[in-house]
Amino acid sequence: MAETFRIGLLGHGTVGSAFEVLLNERADAFVPITGMRPEITGILTRSRGNFEEVLENADLIVELIGGIDPARDYVLRAIRAGRHVVSANKQLLSQYGEELWACARQHGVQLRFEGAVAGVVPVIRVLQETLAATRVERIHGIVNGTTNYILSEMAQRGLTYEEALRHAQELGYAEADPTDDVTGRDAAAKMAILARLAFSTPVHLDQVVYEGIEHLTADDMEYAKELGLGLKLIGTAERVDGGISVRVHPAFLYRGHPLASVDGPFNAVTVESETITEVTLSGPGAGGPQTATAVLGDVVSAMIPPASTPETTESLPVVNDVESGFYLHMEVADRPGVLAQIAELLGMQGASIRSVVQKGLGENARLVMVLHPLLESRFYAAVRLIGQLDFIRAAPRAIRVIDEEFT
Ligand SMILES: NC(=O)c1ccc[n+]([C@@H]2O[C@H](COP(=O)([O-])OP(=O)(O)OC[C@H]3O[C@@H](n4cnc5c(N)ncnc54)[C@H](OP(=O)(O)O)[C@@H]3O)[C@@H](O)[C@H]2O)c1
Repeated sequence: MAETFRIGLLGHGTVGSAFEVLLNERADAFVPITGMRPEITGILTRSRGNFEEVLENADLIVELIGGIDPARDYVLRAIRAGRHVVSANKQLLSQYGEELWACARQHGVQLRFEGAVAGVVPVIRVLQETLAATRVERIHGIVNGTTNYILSEMAQRGLTYEEALRHAQELGYAEADPTDDVTGRDAAAKMAILARLAFSTPVHLDQVVYEGIEHLTADDMEYAKELGLGLKLIGTAERVDGGISVRVHPAFLYRGHPLASVDGPFNAVTVESETITEVTLSGPGAGGPQTATAVLGDVVSAMIPPASTPETTESLPVVNDVESGFYLHMEVADRPGVLAQIAELLGMQGASIRSVVQKGLGENARLVMVLHPLLESRFYAAVRLIGQLDFIRAAPRAIRVIDEEFT
């Protein structure tokens, strides 16, 4: 009989219950790999179990409660008691990661968190181990399946944002309260974790600039198609001017970009560096059984020691004014000289136009253009002035364009 590896499970909701089912199915398969058979020896929910007892009877704690309190306290207590911890809690790690990782190093235990970013897509392990030898320059990620599903529906079926959100809720891809997803906050937490691992510098959720998808329209999708672009909610973590920039916002991608074809509730992450050019990982980004697969994979890894999240070795400044391509959407009076005046204001800020589409709307016209990359501060300075021109009929709208294709 193989020795039992005892697991204390905190949380028995969507992921926790799927974890129990998966563990029962797969436990025997790990005996030849680890010499032990994992087994759940205690479960804690709001109405069931006692934390001290669950901890006492466990070699490893799986935290699937979510949020900060009481998850942070339980994880710290488990680590201090010398237990390995596996968690899928992005909010906790993006806000208290440094404290938890330091505590795990101090107590010589593992804190694993593959399920916290991009579900079953193994991006944490790849950054920490497989790509440890490369100096990562940039990460682009579609790390929120809910928003990717909504944007795919808008693009492919011409739905409005509200209609696509309703579909996502009916199919269980979006929560009844979708705020964290659609405002970009959920993706920002995941990008903070990825940036910390990629650049070995502390990154807190509060340092991530994020913007959501609520203001996007079916119109944007139509013009994007004409311009050969696809619209995604993109998380970016990159080295800029001796520092780093970590941000989440909607962005247009040209079709040659590896993330342009990632549709529906899928997630994908592209890691770029000089030596490897780019590596893209993609797959299901959420869901009980999918996330449980990542969590159980972490449990198996923890059964084969050692591994820990190294201390930060850098202290890089976070840079917020970065270069980007832009899509600019304007409603203007249809009269001579309009395009020239707009082009002049853009030119004064060093912006150069990559493509333009113009459509007549009776007395007015819709002018949509894509600009080559320039500093965001300079672009928005031009947009402020354009917004004041007398022929502008509605506030100009801007969306970033990732002006890059890999061939
Ligand atoms: N769902 C996904 O697709 C997904 C994907 C990736 C990552 N995650 C992460 O996985 C974690 C769990 O998510 P989930 O969707 O499984 O959540 P969930 O369905 O809401 O389940 C949460 C569980 O935690 C328990 N719980 C809540 N507060 C508690 C407390 N104060 N003390 C003890 N237990 C408490 C709940 O108890 P009751 O049963 O008594 O209510 C429930 O069993 C979160 O960190 C989430 O971000 C989820």
